[in-house]
Amino acid sequence: MHFEVKSANASELRSDITIVAVYEKSELSSAAKSLDKAIGGAISDVLKRGDIKGRPGDLLLLTHTAGANCDRILLAGCGKHKELNRQNYRKALQAAYAWLATRPYRTAACCLAQERIAGTDTFRSARIAAEVWHQVSYRFTQMKSTDESGPITLDKLIIVARDAKTTAAVRKGCAEGDALGKGMKLSRDLANLPPNVCTPTYLAEQAKAMAKAAPKLTCKILSEADMRKLGMGSLLSVTAGSVEPAQFIILEYKGAAASKAPTVLVGKGITFDTGGISLKPPAAMDEMKFDMSGAASVLGTFKALAELQPKLNVVGLVPTCENMPGGSATKPGDIVKSMSGLTIEILNTDAEGRLILCDALTYARRYKPAAIIDIATLTGACVIALGKHFTGLLSTSDSLAKDLQKAGDNADDRAWRLPLTPEYAEQLKSNFADVANIGGREAGTITAASFLAKFTTDMNWAHLDIAGTAYQTGAAKGSSGRPVPLLLEFLLHS
Ligand code: BES
Ligand code: MN
Ligand code: ZN
Repeated sequence: MHFEVKSANASELRSDITIVAVYEKSELSSAAKSLDKAIGGAISDVLKRGDIKGRPGDLLLLTHTAGANCDRILLAGCGKHKELNRQNYRKALQAAYAWLATRPYRTAACCLAQERIAGTDTFRSARIAAEVWHQVSYRFTQMKSTDESGPITLDKLIIVARDAKTTAAVRKGCAEGDALGKGMKLSRDLANLPPNVCTPTYLAEQAKAMAKAAPKLTCKILSEADMRKLGMGSLLSVTAGSVEPAQFIILEYKGAAASKAPTVLVGKGITFDTGGISLKPPAAMDEMKFDMSGAASVLGTFKALAELQPKLNVVGLVPTCENMPGGSATKPGDIVKSMSGLTIEILNTDAEGRLILCDALTYARRYKPAAIIDIATLTGACVIALGKHFTGLLSTSDSLAKDLQKAGDNADDRAWRLPLTPEYAEQLKSNFADVANIGGREAGTITAASFLAKFTTDMNWAHLDIAGTAYQTGAAKGSSGRPVPLLLEFLLHS
């Protein structure tokens, strides 16, 4: 998709189809008014006749457009004019784009980003207009022998600015939304791929290929032998039952002076989580291919950084392996030594995410990070607590937690903070080692974060539990691309 930014009168725009906002109570947007005038009042007519009510998501196609330069007009309902908010704006865009994606058109002009939206500036409206196109047009058909949905023919989407004064902001927003959309697409593709394709080696190859194609971005891969030398006994214990070799991906994006401390993102990359010897029940076990969604979100965020080339330093660390049972697999009761020196009693091999993350968090110390954020489908308990709407946010730093929460709010990719006070760590006591890898039934999301906190002392650290938000289950099963929006927003705007 090629995005173009223009400031023009809606009636002068040349396109296969032009999308304009209409509102409840027969109210027209300025773009709709301009077209209405050009085509002899047909828009006000259909509104008055009630052919379209103007509720968010309502659509009506007009095909008689003599007097205007476009071949068709798509009216998109945006709700009550005075109350246009971001949800209704997104709803209108989603409906219009979803319809567009099934049509044989090549060029569309979208005037919705001109509308005044509560708490949303021009830059942000344009960013959303581009981002939503990527989300709605996303298809995952590469494993099907026939693509039932048919190809998307649209190749140019003109985002129309209100006036010449705002085009610069629209252009900037559009570029960022486009980059975000591409990052989310990569993240979704990686997570949707089956676990026999998306192996640790595959993830490492994708990261290397991305770095090769982008300036300022480098990639290094540590092998199991390298990890052994570093003392990553915790990470290696998780891969012990697998025939696929574990990989440790290191992405470095250098957009600022070398003296500037980087932000480090650490993504859980379990390409399949069987539970190991503490085997999971069979129902919905296939969904454990999504257990590398943290890793996918890191790669997706780097994709967006590579597109935008901001003046930032960011490091991405992805410990990746499978969690399998087998003759050489780790057993409940095994004690392993982490890179930090702490010994861990593994009481449940299904609590493996924290075991790979802790060594990555220790590895990250060499970067002296300004902030370090890990992203992981870490606990089923988080799905119970927050469902699929909010990512779990846990941090020992109030200011970092606040910045991340705000980034999530601004990007419509929300996170909710859970407490992380010292008393929860009591639940991780082991009779035989420095720490146990599980803390019992109570507060499972918090004890998991408490475990990680033992490895991040004196670091400006936060943990995002995306078990509920990274993918959808049921009929809509598939990756959501979250929390790439939150992460990119945090990096670029806080
Ligand atoms: N990958 C799972 C967490 C998960 C569960 C993500 C459901 C998405 C949906 C993680 O490795 C896991 O198995 N966690 C255990 C921890 C427990 C053994 C302490 C869990 O949540 O049951
Ligand atoms: Mn597990
Ligand atoms: Zn897992």
